[in-house]
Amino acid sequence: MKKTFAVLISALALMAAFVSCNNSTIQVGIVLPTKDEERWIQDQTRFQEALKTAGITAEVLFSEKDSSKEKSNVETLLTKGIKVLVLCPVDSASAAASADAAKKAGVKVVAYDRLITGTANVDFYVTFDSFNVGAAWGEYLVSKASGQGNNLYLYAGAASDNNAFIFFDGAWSQLQPKIADGTFVIANSAEAIKLKDKAQLTREEMASIIGQITTNWNPADAKSKAEAHLTAANASQKGDVFILGPNDQTARAIADTFATDKDIKSYKITGQDADKASIQYIIDGKQSMTVLKDTRTLVASAIATAITFAKGETPASSKTYNNGVVEVPSTPAEVVSVTQDNVKAAIVDSGYYPAADFTGLQ
Ligand code: BGC
Repeated sequence: MKKTFAVLISALALMAAFVSCNNSTIQVGIVLPTKDEERWIQDQTRFQEALKTAGITAEVLFSEKDSSKEKSNVETLLTKGIKVLVLCPVDSASAAASADAAKKAGVKVVAYDRLITGTANVDFYVTFDSFNVGAAWGEYLVSKASGQGNNLYLYAGAASDNNAFIFFDGAWSQLQPKIADGTFVIANSAEAIKLKDKAQLTREEMASIIGQITTNWNPADAKSKAEAHLTAANASQKGDVFILGPNDQTARAIADTFATDKDIKSYKITGQDADKASIQYIIDGKQSMTVLKDTRTLVASAIATAITFAKGETPASSKTYNNGVVEVPSTPAEVVSVTQDNVKAAIVDSGYYPAADFTGLQ
C-alpha cells in the first residue's frame, strides 16, 4: 500500500513539475477495451480526475470489445495529431497493427494494463504486477485449505488477453506444489490434471489449460461453464470447494452458480479489480477475496509516462516483458489482496471508495 502511494505521489510530483515549467499541451490518445465492465469505467473516471490537473489534453475512446473498432479509434486519434497513444488492447496480438500505424505516424506507443504482442513498436508497458495477482489468488486458496483431496475448480481470463497467461502463471506457481502433494484435486480440467507435476508451464501448456477453463472475461460464459462443470461433477467433487476466479465480474457469476447447487456446502473464490459489487459480495461473505489494482496509480503512471515521452526522455523501468518480438520496458505497480479482514482499511480508509457505497461494513 505504502509503495503504491509512493509511486502515486512521485508521479503526481513529476506531473506538477512538468506543468509548472512547460505550458504547451501534449495530446494523448487513450483507448480502453469496453464500457461493459466496471474495471474500465474506473480507469476512465480516474483518467478524467487526473487529467484536470495534469496539464495535458487527452481523449478517451472505448473499443466495445471489438478489435476493428479499436483500430478505427486509433486511426481517429492519429488523425487528430496525438503525440502519445495509450492503448489497452481488446486482443493483445491484433493490436500490433495499431501500434505499427502509430509508430509510422511518429507517435509513442504505451501498452496500458494489457501488453500488445507480436510487434517491435511498443515503447513502454504501464501495468500492475499481474504475476502477483495470480500468486495472491494461489496464496489465498492454499491458506484456506487443510488436509488432502480438496476440490479445486480453475477458471481463467480470455486467451486473447496476454494477462490471462500471466495471471494463470502466478496462480500455478502457488497452487501446483499443493496439487502435486494432494492437498488439492483439480475437478474441471483434464489438461491441468495432465500437467499437475510440472512446476513451470510453457505458454503452449498454459494455452491448453486456459482453452478448457476460459471465461472469455464474460460473466455469461463463466456462468454456463460453471453450470456445465457442476453438472458433470460427481458427489465427491462437491461439498467444500475452492475456486480460482479470474476477475470480479466472472467470479460473481461463478459464485452465484455454485451457491445454488445444493451439494456445494461451502466455496472459497478469488477475484480481482475491487469492483464495487464484489466489495459488497466480500462484506456479505459471497466472494472470498479480490485483488485491488489501484487504478489511480496506473492512471498516474500512464500520464507521467506520456509526459516523459513528450519531453523526449525515457521513462524509468524496473523490468521488461517479452511480447514475442521485443523486451518491453515496464515498472509494474504493486497489488493488494483484499478479504473481509482488511476490506475497510484497503478500500474505504484508503479513499478508494466511500463507505456510503456499501452496506454492512464493520
Ligand atoms: C485486466 C483485468 C480485467 C480483465 C477483464 C484484464 O486484462 O487486467 O483487470 O478484469 O482484463 O477486462
